[in-house]
Amino acid sequence: MSALTVPLRNPNATTTTTWLTPRSLIEALGPFDLDPATPESGMPWRTATRMLRPSDNGLTTPWPKESFVFHNPPYGKGMGEWMAKAAQHGNGITLIFARTETGYFHQNVFRHPNTTAIFFFASRLKFSDADGLEKNAAVSPSVAIAYGEKARGRLVAAVNAGTIEGRLILLGTDQAGVWQKGAKSRSRKKAA
Ligand SMILES: C[S@@+](CC[C@H](N)C(=O)[O-])C[C@H]1O[C@@H](n2cnc3c(N)ncnc32)[C@H](O)[C@@H]1O
Repeated sequence: MSALTVPLRNPNATTTTTWLTPRSLIEALGPFDLDPATPESGMPWRTATRMLRPSDNGLTTPWPKESFVFHNPPYGKGMGEWMAKAAQHGNGITLIFARTETGYFHQNVFRHPNTTAIFFFASRLKFSDADGLEKNAAVSPSVAIAYGEKARGRLVAAVNAGTIEGRLILLGTDQAGVWQKGAKSRSRKKAA
């Protein structure tokens, strides 16, 4: 194939950020008070009592502290901001890909004092398009992050009930200490 005939773009590539969480997962972990990121055109099932759309701007709208949040953020440039907001809010479950090497993951999951548990799914999730049509298994593994005690309790309950399958890592109050040790040994290596 000559350089001129190489397609510039994968014709199957998609630019949508609407990938609906499997309904069974919402049922296993819910109910939720607030979902700050839902499609403008609505979706076939509810994820929370209050569902914010792009025109509401779920990123800048305050999330009341007492609202238990379900959060599956739109992937893209704003990930760091969405993750920082969820971590700081500290009362809900965030579903994201296990991109454990990224800065936003380290800052808002591993190093954040509000993180109470991390659940690694045993298999790839199947998200749905805006019409609720289930698609092929996701391109990456997913994790559910618990912020706060209520969220941690929901993950524990779902694991015990067998409604989610995978590995649940519970984080103790000494999580910050674990990070400190890692940070120190990293800087020692750097200095050597
Ligand atoms: C990955 S989908 C998740 C949908 C739903 N929360 C779920 O879990 O099934 C993320 C959605 O966030 C919406 N979105 C993008 N920016 C937003 C914003 N600033 N405020 C509210 N929603 C937004 C997108 O339109 C997209 O439908």
